[in-house]
Amino acid sequence: MNILFIGDIVGSPGREMLKTYLPRLKSNYMPDAVIVNGENAAHGKGLTEKNYHELMEAGAQVITMGNHTWDKREITDYIDKTPNLIRPANYPEGTPGNGMFFQKMGNKEVAVINLQGRTFLPAIDCPFRKADELVEQARKRTPFIFVDFHAEATSEKQAMGWYLDGRVSAVVGTHTHVQTADERVLSKGTAYISDAGMTGPYDGILGTSREPVIKRFLTSLPVRFEVAEGRTQLSGVVVRLDNKTGMAQSIKRIAINDDHPYFD
Ligand SMILES: [Fe+2]
Ligand SMILES: [Fe+2]
Repeated sequence: MNILFIGDIVGSPGREMLKTYLPRLKSNYMPDAVIVNGENAAHGKGLTEKNYHELMEAGAQVITMGNHTWDKREITDYIDKTPNLIRPANYPEGTPGNGMFFQKMGNKEVAVINLQGRTFLPAIDCPFRKADELVEQARKRTPFIFVDFHAEATSEKQAMGWYLDGRVSAVVGTHTHVQTADERVLSKGTAYISDAGMTGPYDGILGTSREPVIKRFLTSLPVRFEVAEGRTQLSGVVVRLDNKTGMAQSIKRIAINDDHPYFD
């Protein structure tokens, strides 16, 4: 079983990259499931219903979110009607939407779980204890479990990877928008990477145009962030899983940009 995951889609440049490259990635890796992080897909912040449909038409099967989940308020109206769009599971009781979705993969299924870290991010419920609860539920149905852990600190991400090692197929980090080169299969069979990276502008600062970000660092004045223009990139990973045990055999980084233009 192969699962393709694409990191944070940022604005229209990210959506265009997905449309351009997903067909090629699919024919190359033959994924049984395609998961996309969409928290920045609507002009860098949140996900409109229109953009949700656009990502689905581009070939996404499950969309995960993160700290920008509620930036486009209309999501609270449609998220309960779109179960394959999940938000971090450790949001407080009573929050719209769900944090886990079972996606069909041929005659099998993969549980996709979205969690959010608490280090340098808002104080929400414990992602580790929520992971225990959901993994236990998921394992009753399937050994294929994919976790998008949306978090800032590499320490918190590594902790989650090792905490879930041997219990889930993969723990893939998102949120920093910078792909890390630490992809590996942990000792009990969980594929791990601290961050899958982002999809969208290549010459911005985390996808945002550079000037306002630099001004903000220089002056601390409030500025308006815009999605950067110009060159683009796509980032993600593909994980190969044992058909029976659901444990990972390999994890491979995908980085498509003008400095790393190839994938194989
Ligand atoms: Fe993001
Ligand atoms: Fe984020």
